[in-house]
Amino acid sequence: MRIDAPKYTERFGSVRINEVQQVLQLDSGKPRTLPLRENVAVQKIEEDVIKDFEERMAIVIPTKDEKLKLFEGVVSGVPHECLIIVVSNSQRKRVDRFRMERDALRQFCHFTRREALIFHQKDPVIAQALADVGYTGILGEDGLVRHGKAEGMVAAMLMAMVAKKDYVGFIDADNYFPGAVWEYVRCYAAGFSIANSPYAMVRVLWRYKPKVSAGMLFKKWGRVSEITNRCMNSLVSSKSGFETDIIKTGNAGEHAMSMRLAQILTYASGYAVEPQELVSIFEGFGGVLPMAHQIAAKHGVEIFQTETRNPHLHEEKGGHHLLVEMLLPGLGAIYHSPLCEDETRGVIIEELLRQDAIKPGEEPPKPQFIAPLNSIDLKKFATIMAEHMESYSALEEEP
Ligand code: GDD
Ligand code: MG
Repeated sequence: MRIDAPKYTERFGSVRINEVQQVLQLDSGKPRTLPLRENVAVQKIEEDVIKDFEERMAIVIPTKDEKLKLFEGVVSGVPHECLIIVVSNSQRKRVDRFRMERDALRQFCHFTRREALIFHQKDPVIAQALADVGYTGILGEDGLVRHGKAEGMVAAMLMAMVAKKDYVGFIDADNYFPGAVWEYVRCYAAGFSIANSPYAMVRVLWRYKPKVSAGMLFKKWGRVSEITNRCMNSLVSSKSGFETDIIKTGNAGEHAMSMRLAQILTYASGYAVEPQELVSIFEGFGGVLPMAHQIAAKHGVEIFQTETRNPHLHEEKGGHHLLVEMLLPGLGAIYHSPLCEDETRGVIIEELLRQDAIKPGEEPPKPQFIAPLNSIDLKKFATIMAEHMESYSALEEEP
């Protein structure tokens, strides 16, 4: 494929934030032995390079009671070399939706001869393994992994570590276009292939996010993203002293990380997870607070933002969900960061009041933090999980 070379990079301590790069071509043809002179402003990433990165990547699909047809479509869009890891929090009572997902995935893997793992977020085996290694931060009062997208992502990242993957990417299960899923993964691979640091992150930005109202409106920005980006940029600006609008992917649900980076970040519960990833990077490597990890600080942390060609069309879950579950926790992650100064706090409060998400005098809630994954004894966790891995494999026969 061909994507823009990063044209501008903003530096924040040892963090390098690249300006948005656009996808120019989804398929850039065969490699040439005698290279045509390539435009230096454009990066050509060969198919076999993309495949090499895909082979080292786990694609995590978090799902909770999504339409089965959408889930099946998403799964079909993930390139063959990636290890699919489905983490489901779907209902098991009345209708066992998890079982339906597992059956669909099994059938797909059977006919496509590909490997995938699927587990339920509330699986007691996983909770017990986490308790055994003392990683109890994502466990609830019932001793099981808590509800929430972030909690599912963290459990799935641990599975990806057990499977010895070098990269992990996330794709929501409610996407209507398998072709978009395919493009996201290629963008992840392309980003890692041009990264200069082993501590890298790729965040996807959509060219259009269509809304069906009277006819189809090809909107670019969602309300939540616009506000989160503004507040995130205010945080960066207040530290550098120069106003910036470099962050365009504050909420990016579709994103990927090198495992080395994924292991050292502090996460936040629920939908605060994506903004908190950036906040963790800025806190840990922005040079204002003590460096969180010396080796990563030396290499630098690199953030890519890639704008895809496919429009993003997913299930609309409505106003209350957007404000209370997404905007509020996301802004809470920025607001409560030790990096956040009064000016940015003021911007956040103003936005939340305008959106009616808080009342005068109130503050956004403090996020519930989840400790970095490298705080666990991975060897011990992998040993405990080893005897159960078969039951999570979608290629194995019915347990
Ligand atoms: N395993 C698991 N556990 N999955 C969950 C849970 C949970 O508790 N809650 C939601 N999911 C799944 C959904 O089924 C979906 O596949 C995905 O996580 C995202 O949830 P949505 O409810 O569809 O979120 P959204 O569309 O409003 O927001 C998405 O896009 C935002 C902007 O890019 C999410 O990815 C946000 O995290 C993101 O910030
Ligand atoms: Mg969605």
